[in-house]
Amino acid sequence: MQLLVNVDHVATLRNARGEGYPDPVDAARICEKAGASGIVFHLRGDRRHIQDDDVFRLKKSVSGTLDFEMAASDEMIRICNEIKPHLCTLVPEGREELTTEGGLNMEAVYEDYEKRVIPALNGIEISLFLDPNETDILAAHKLGVGAIELHTGNYANAADEASGKTELNRLKLAAELAHELGMKVNAGHGLNLDNLPELIKEVPYLNDISIGHALISKSVFWGLDKTIKAYLKIMEDHG
Ligand code: PXP
Repeated sequence: MQLLVNVDHVATLRNARGEGYPDPVDAARICEKAGASGIVFHLRGDRRHIQDDDVFRLKKSVSGTLDFEMAASDEMIRICNEIKPHLCTLVPEGREELTTEGGLNMEAVYEDYEKRVIPALNGIEISLFLDPNETDILAAHKLGVGAIELHTGNYANAADEASGKTELNRLKLAAELAHELGMKVNAGHGLNLDNLPELIKEVPYLNDISIGHALISKSVFWGLDKTIKAYLKIMEDHG
């Protein structure tokens, strides 16, 4: 199991004042030094946080896994092919949303992914961001992708303990199915120091865990080094 840190919100803070700091590339360096296995960034069509220049600088600077999270637009596919990250995580993207709101609707995107998207990303490992359901996982497998990222948002935002358990069980079944089909199982969205232990205790076969907002927020008070180490300790103790 590996911790990949999403540095988008370091860029959010930088962009709030239009200064050059804090720099997501500096943050990435500190995260890797503290023990993170890699870095995630989401270059959005509206460029609300990460900018094109950040992407090229991250490519140069990151030594571990570089995960380029993106919508499957022609523009992003072109940039991804220039960057050649270790992993490309494809997500749905809506202009009005505050953050990614759910997994891909595989039925809706299947034909486009089969004909345009997957062939255009030839040579780059692809992961599809999916809600934990059998239909979408089977469709991802049929497309021939090597990995999925399970959307943990519903688990993270569960209103009470019972619905949290239900969501955990969905994630567990989804991870088992994806693993059985030979796909890597990644996970992310809404994870934090409180909900991560239960997730990694209950959900098997987890590979990359992608964490952004809560981790960067905690680091405002604790610093990145201490925060990353706290996440790594949880992964060590419960994984
Ligand atoms: N994984 C995916 C596919 C995402 O879209 C996001 C949010 O950008 C994350 C993980 C990280 O989520 P969070 O910022 O809530 O930790």
